Amino acid sequence: MDEESIPAGLIDTGARRTLRLGVLISGSGTNLQAIIDRIAEGSLDATVAVVISDKDSAYGLVRSQQAGIPAIFLCRSDFEDITGYNRELARLLVEHDCDLVVMAGYMRLLGRRVLEAFPGRVMNIHPALLPSFPGASGITDAFAYGAKVTGVTVHFADESFDNGPIIAQEAVAVEETDDVETLEAKIHAVEHRLYPDAIQLFADGRLVIEGRKVRVLPPRA
Ligand code: GRF
Repeated sequence: MDEESIPAGLIDTGARRTLRLGVLISGSGTNLQAIIDRIAEGSLDATVAVVISDKDSAYGLVRSQQAGIPAIFLCRSDFEDITGYNRELARLLVEHDCDLVVMAGYMRLLGRRVLEAFPGRVMNIHPALLPSFPGASGITDAFAYGAKVTGVTVHFADESFDNGPIIAQEAVAVEETDDVETLEAKIHAVEHRLYPDAIQLFADGRLVIEGRKVRVLPPRA
């Protein structure tokens, strides 16, 4: 099972009901909050079915509870191996009837169990313009490198870190006056708009995965 490959080629990601999101977090959950807020203000047609964290200290769990969303801490050390952990993660997402899995600062590699349960239906956000500056410190790496332009990438996830087909990217200029904190603030502001926008494209059935590429269909008349 673990060695089976993800179906390749054209995947229709169209949703057929109010989109149910399973959001995976490890930390503060500001992207989760942006999604919750956009749903509440009526500009994102979705509902957060469950939030799952691999860290019990993740503030995103508090945000979920405050919003009345089921919040689950899934403890890695409760499982013998990562396959068992990911099997339970996939089971919980299926149990909550999720249509789309949204990684929002989830700091673990997603196992094949989850990817195969949700083919073409797992998104991730990265705070740099992929394939530049992948990894856990995309903002500081771009700043330290002296990049003049960095940004935000939303992409479908695959079995590698920060690697799947790109849905949306937006550039952020690194000004002479920026330090890491001001750059971080600019990038997070873009993230909090771009991620809900990308999820709305999915909800509208406008994303089609063709190999490495994601075609964004025009809005329906
Ligand atoms: C974001 O910068 C996201 O791009 C990266 O992790 C960070 C999560 O922040 N993958 P938050 O937990 O949503 O505040």
